[in-house]
Amino acid sequence: RAASRPVALGSAAEIGAFRGDPRYREALKRYCDIVVPMNDLKWDALRHERAGFDFAGADEIVAFAEANGKALRGHTLLWGEALPPWVGEMTTRAEAERELVRHIEVVVDRYKGRIATWDVVNEVIKYDPTSGGPWRDTVWQHLLGPEHVEIAFRTAARTDPKARLVLNDFHFEERDAGAAARRAVALDICRRLRDKGIPIHGLGMQAHLYAERTIDIDGLQRFMRDLDALGLDVEITELDVIDWKMPADAALRDKRAAALVASFLGAVASAKRPKAIVTWGLTDRYSWVGETFPRKDGARARPLPLDADYRPKPMLAVLERYRRGT
Ligand code: G3I
Repeated sequence: RAASRPVALGSAAEIGAFRGDPRYREALKRYCDIVVPMNDLKWDALRHERAGFDFAGADEIVAFAEANGKALRGHTLLWGEALPPWVGEMTTRAEAERELVRHIEVVVDRYKGRIATWDVVNEVIKYDPTSGGPWRDTVWQHLLGPEHVEIAFRTAARTDPKARLVLNDFHFEERDAGAAARRAVALDICRRLRDKGIPIHGLGMQAHLYAERTIDIDGLQRFMRDLDALGLDVEITELDVIDWKMPADAALRDKRAAALVASFLGAVASAKRPKAIVTWGLTDRYSWVGETFPRKDGARARPLPLDADYRPKPMLAVLERYRRGT
């Protein structure tokens, strides 16, 4: 198996839980080799006003990671969401390029040599890329066109030549036409960047897995081999399981989630060892899933490796096998 050597495990850190719940920090220390600020390196956290940068939240999580010997991922230098209102007021290409370049220079320079890996761009691929071109219609695509991705990667690479630069996106994993189309588009974007000599080091698969769907094992293995042929790393960047369509029974949902994660990671690792496996949080107590996909029965979502009282669930054992290396 390609994943016989240990794989670094990590988690996103949500600042409210990080500040308010000591068990949250203890869990990060115990279960993670990598930490990524969930929201504090996004534009809406950093850039309340056009003039300044507010690094308070990010600095807190970065300091925690460094004090505890954890590696850091930065999320994310360019996204079409989580933007402060003033970004929507930009009207020209020149303005958008100036603001994007300045943002990336200031942020990447501040954490140069400290944040080792950046999600340079997040979710730039249109949800269904089979109609009307690959690009999601964001303010960046609107004002800069397809070059918005190149500008982001070039600027990040120039600012911290040692950082690993990742294109991060979702819906690559399941057996459906959309995922297959998105895998093809992601490969094409990576290939074009490579052909232009623009530094890119990895593809980030968010891997928010829907419990009722099945993993496209063959499709993923081909995708891994194609990425490998391009010399790209693969990172699992936001792993969790969206179980809103599952029956209420907690033990059953936990078993299904663990089996789905095992199937997904097995498909990836059988073709290419992932550089990292990062979950989008550690405990069901704090997860975007329940807010975004509320269950009709009101039961709490169970997307993550620890339950709401920080007790390990079967998914943790699956992840720990990769951390140990088997
Ligand atoms: O912290 C403030 C709080 O002070 C305020 O009272 C409250 C109400 O406005 O908002 C709180 O911030 C919220 C934050 O989550 C807290 O966790 C933001 O409004 C809310 O927009 C934010 O949502 C985050 C979302 O991205 C948008 O940035 C989620 O936590 C986060 O899990 C989610 O993560 C995304 C990845 O970045 C990209 N991939 C998909 C993933 C899930 O949507």
